[in-house]
Amino acid sequence: MITLKGKVHYVGVNDRIKTLFEGLWPLPYGVTYNSYLIADEKVALIDTVDANYFDLFLDKIKEVIGDRPIDYLIINHMEPDHSGSIRLLRQFYPELTVVTNKKALEMVKGYYGTASSSKVIDEGDTLELGHHVLRFHMIPMVHWPETMVSYDLTDHIVFSGDAFGCFGALNGTPLDYQMDPTIYWSEMERYYSNIVGKYGSPVQRALQKLKDLEIDMICATHGPVWTGENVPRVISVYDRLSRYATEEGVVIAYGSMYGNTQQAAEAVAEELSREGIRKVVLHDVARTNHSFILADIFRYKGIILCAPTYNASIFPQMEMLMSEIEMRGIKDRYLSYFGSFSWACHSVKRLAAFSEKVGFEVVGNPVEMKQGLMPDTRKACEALARAMADRLKMDRQPA
Ligand code: FEO
Repeated sequence: MITLKGKVHYVGVNDRIKTLFEGLWPLPYGVTYNSYLIADEKVALIDTVDANYFDLFLDKIKEVIGDRPIDYLIINHMEPDHSGSIRLLRQFYPELTVVTNKKALEMVKGYYGTASSSKVIDEGDTLELGHHVLRFHMIPMVHWPETMVSYDLTDHIVFSGDAFGCFGALNGTPLDYQMDPTIYWSEMERYYSNIVGKYGSPVQRALQKLKDLEIDMICATHGPVWTGENVPRVISVYDRLSRYATEEGVVIAYGSMYGNTQQAAEAVAEELSREGIRKVVLHDVARTNHSFILADIFRYKGIILCAPTYNASIFPQMEMLMSEIEMRGIKDRYLSYFGSFSWACHSVKRLAAFSEKVGFEVVGNPVEMKQGLMPDTRKACEALARAMADRLKMDRQPA
């Protein structure tokens, strides 16, 4: 049994088998589906787990409450990685009352049939469990419309749904002070940029709403349980990412069919290094899952995109990356771009249309590279890199 504090227990599970989260995003360290059980005078379960793990989930619940019934199932978020066990849970606990907001309840019906016994709550409503009292706060669009958090007024725990979550299964208990949480910080940035990234403004509104709460423990639906000094650190990560704030550095995302565009990308990276930009990352858009490219794009101020012309347009994986950037509403970046071609250049036109649409500040002159990387094209690429380096250095604070 994993007790987090007093009557509050962890009954979530590790998924080390799934390879792609949402069918899209790689899980090199796995992922958790966190669920929490408050065994008070009334028993409240907060969120469930992926249906594939129901047996294990049920065992964990019974380990805590034995044959006692579950009085309330509190649903903070309805995405099926958390709601997937609702139907099975009802079979084992037919008397439980679903406690959630109106939008979530409609989703319960939509995904799992009728929600027979339910209690609809709204902003600021409370639920008394005995010693514990929970208060509910709506945080719509973080990252679904029905999302809410449950705040435990007794122990100052925020059960936050996907907010403050991260990829990575647990190597031990979920408590951050009982394990090494190092891997979760970068997995938090990747989770945020992949899953929540489009919803910067709703995340900011949620943070405003939660800012006056006394929080001793964050219990999200993915990743560790955060305590102590990690509480403000986690909040600051979500604050930074949702403001689209960056650090100095450049992501060079390139497509290359025969290595020529890659050579040009390498020339740009070398010049950036020579010019004093130390944080430069190159990603091949066809070989690196875009999950990792997006995480770096959320981190760094500079973006350089380069790709060959393909079918009178652009290399398909670059088209996809542009769409992924665009749909996340990423703001305040410096963008340089160049394209290659063998007989008719279309990629640069496509990159120009993209830059106009996203409204990034365009830096340097776009290069059109015909066939191989000849000395004059190399010079143009290096000039582009210098323009990006100069623009980044203009933002440096005086020492
Ligand atoms: Fe972890 Fe939005 O589900």
